[in-house]
Amino acid sequence: MQLHISPSLRHVTVLPGKGVREFIKVKVGSRRVSYRMLFYSLLFFTFLLRFVFVLSTVDTIDGDHSKCSTIGCLGKRIRPRILGRRIESNIPEVIYQILDKPVSKDEVQGKSDIPQTLEEFMAEMKESRSDAKSFALRLREMVVLLEQRARTAKIQEYLYRHVASSSIPKQLHCLALKLANEHSNNAAARLQLPSPELVPALVDNSYFHFVLASDNVLAAFVVAKSLVKNAFSPEKFVLHIITDRKTYSPMQAWFSLHPLMPAIIEVKALYQFDWLSKGKVPVLEAMEKDQKVRSQFRGGSTAIVANNTEKPQVIAAKLQALSPKYNSLMNHIRIHLPELFPSLNKVVFLDDDIVIQTDLSPLWDIDMNGKVNGAVETCRGEDSFVMSKRFKSYLNFSHPLIANNFDPNECAWAYGMNIFDLDAWRKTNISLTYHHWLEENLKSDLSLWQLGTLPPGLIAFHGHVHVIDPFWHMLGLGYQDNTTLADAETAGVIHFNGRAKPWLDIAFPQLRPLWAKYIDFSDKFIKGCHIRAS
Ligand SMILES: *[C@@H]1O[C@H](CO)[C@@H](O)[C@H](O)[C@H]1NC(C)=O
Ligand SMILES: *[C@@H]1O[C@H](CO)[C@@H](O)[C@H](O)[C@H]1NC(C)=O
Ligand SMILES: *[C@@H]1O[C@H](CO)[C@@H](O)[C@H](O)[C@H]1NC(C)=O
Ligand SMILES: *[C@@H]1O[C@H](CO)[C@@H](O)[C@H](O)[C@H]1NC(C)=O
Repeated sequence: MQLHISPSLRHVTVLPGKGVREFIKVKVGSRRVSYRMLFYSLLFFTFLLRFVFVLSTVDTIDGDHSKCSTIGCLGKRIRPRILGRRIESNIPEVIYQILDKPVSKDEVQGKSDIPQTLEEFMAEMKESRSDAKSFALRLREMVVLLEQRARTAKIQEYLYRHVASSSIPKQLHCLALKLANEHSNNAAARLQLPSPELVPALVDNSYFHFVLASDNVLAAFVVAKSLVKNAFSPEKFVLHIITDRKTYSPMQAWFSLHPLMPAIIEVKALYQFDWLSKGKVPVLEAMEKDQKVRSQFRGGSTAIVANNTEKPQVIAAKLQALSPKYNSLMNHIRIHLPELFPSLNKVVFLDDDIVIQTDLSPLWDIDMNGKVNGAVETCRGEDSFVMSKRFKSYLNFSHPLIANNFDPNECAWAYGMNIFDLDAWRKTNISLTYHHWLEENLKSDLSLWQLGTLPPGLIAFHGHVHVIDPFWHMLGLGYQDNTTLADAETAGVIHFNGRAKPWLDIAFPQLRPLWAKYIDFSDKFIKGCHIRAS
C-alpha cells in the first residue's frame, strides 16, 4: 500500500497493495469487519483527520473490548459511518495520549528508521506484533515525518508558483533583447512615436486618451492591439505607453515596426517626463525606503521560511510581501497621472494584464458625478470568490490608525481599467494622502498593509470613487480557473489579475486564447523567440 499526499494537500491517494490486504485480513478476520470496509474507512480517515485512520486499525491490534475510555468512546461516536454502518471499536487510551501530545520541533530529527510509507509501517507492525503504545509511538513518528515532508513540499510549491509568476520567462527576455538589438541596428525601429505631425494630438482633449504603464512589450502590445482593433473610431484613440529605462528601446522598436494605425501610440520612458525630472518626487523616495524596510521585514526571507509553526500559506504571503514586484515604479506611478499629463482632463488607465474586447469610447459618456476614479466594485456579484473584497480584505483593522479612520465593510474596487477625471483629481489632495499613508505604513513597519498599490489607493481615493458597471472590467482570470470562455467573452474588458498571467506557462489554458489571439505567431520576432500560441 502506498500513501501519497499531493503537494497541494488536496489529494490523498491510498493505493492498495498485496501486503496490506493480507495484514488487514489477518487482523480483521475475526472481527467480522470486511477488508473493503476497512479500506474505505482508512481512505476516508486519512483524508479527514490526520490521526483518525488509526481508529479503525488500532482495535484490531490491541483490542481490549471490555473497557471504554471516555475519549475512546467519544472517538467512537464522532467517527463517520462507513456505508451506513459504524465501525465498532474500543481504543486504548494510551493511544490517544500519545497521539494527542503536541509535536515538538525535533521530534523525528535524526531518526532514520521511521517507516516512510503506510506499507512499511503495516509490515513492521505485522512482524513485531507490537502493543498499543509502541504502535502509537511508531505511527506518530511516521505521521509527523510525512507531515513535515508535505509541509516542505507545500512551501516549495508556493515558492515555485511565486517565482514563476514574478520572474520573466526567457522567451520574453529574448524578445526584449532582439528588439533592443533591432533598435540599435535598424533606423526603422527608432521612429519617433508618434510621428511629429501627430504630436499635437497627445495634448488634445477631443481625443480619447488611454494610459498604460508596463515593462512587458508583449503584454503592452496585446492591450494596445485589442484596444485599437475593437474601437469604432480608432483614429480618435491615443494610447500613452509609459515604460522604464531598460524597456524603452525594445518598446519603441516594437511599436515602430508594428504600428497600430490609425490609432496614435506614444512610447515614453518615465525619465522623459518633465515633471519627474524636475527633482523631488515623493513616490521615488517612498519606494526607496519601502525597499529597505521590506528587505529586513521580519528578518528577511530566511527567517520567514525557518519558522516551522507557521502555515505554508502565511509563509508564502510573507515572502510575497518582500517581492520587488509589489514595489515597482510602474505600479506606483499611476498616483501621479495629473502631474504626468498636465494638459489632459480625462484618461482611462489600463493595466498590462488585461484584454479589451469592446469599444471603450463610451467610457467618456459616463457621468462621474464629480468623482475622480471610475472603477468596478469588488464586493458584490455572482462570483462570490472574486467579488468578496472589502476594505478589511486589504487593510489591517487591528491597527488603530486603520480602525479609527475606515470602515472595514466598505466595498473595495479594482485597479486595471479605471476612468480618471484628472480635472476633478487636481482639485483634491489624493496624491498627498497617498504619500502620507505610504509614510505611515513605513513608520509602522508595514503593519497597516503589506502588499501592493491597491491598499494605499483604497485609502487615497476614499470618497472619490464612482462605481461603473461590472461589464467594463471582469476580474480574476489569473487566479480563478473555473471562469468559462463563454463568460469571459461577454465582458468588455477582462483582467488576468493573479498569478496565472497569460504570458506564463502557468496560464489557464482555456482562457489563454482570449489573450493570445491578438498576437501574430508567425511574426519574425515572436517566432524567433519561440513564443507559441499554447
Ligand atoms: C513563528 O510564527 C508564529 C505564528 O505567527 C509566531 O508566534 C512565532 O513567534 C514565530 N517564531 C519565530 C521563531 O519567528
Ligand atoms: C468558481 O468557483 C467559485 C468558488 O470556488 C464560485 O464562487 C464561483 O461562482 C465559480 N465561478 C463560476 C463562473 O463558476
Ligand atoms: C489639501 O491640503 C491642504 C494642506 O493640507 C489644505 O489646506 C486643503 O484644504 C486641502 N484641500 C482639499 C480639497 O482637501
Ligand atoms: C496589524 O496591526 C497590529 C496592531 O498594530 C499588529 O500587531 C499586527 O502585527 C498587524 N498585522 C500585520 C499582519 O501586520
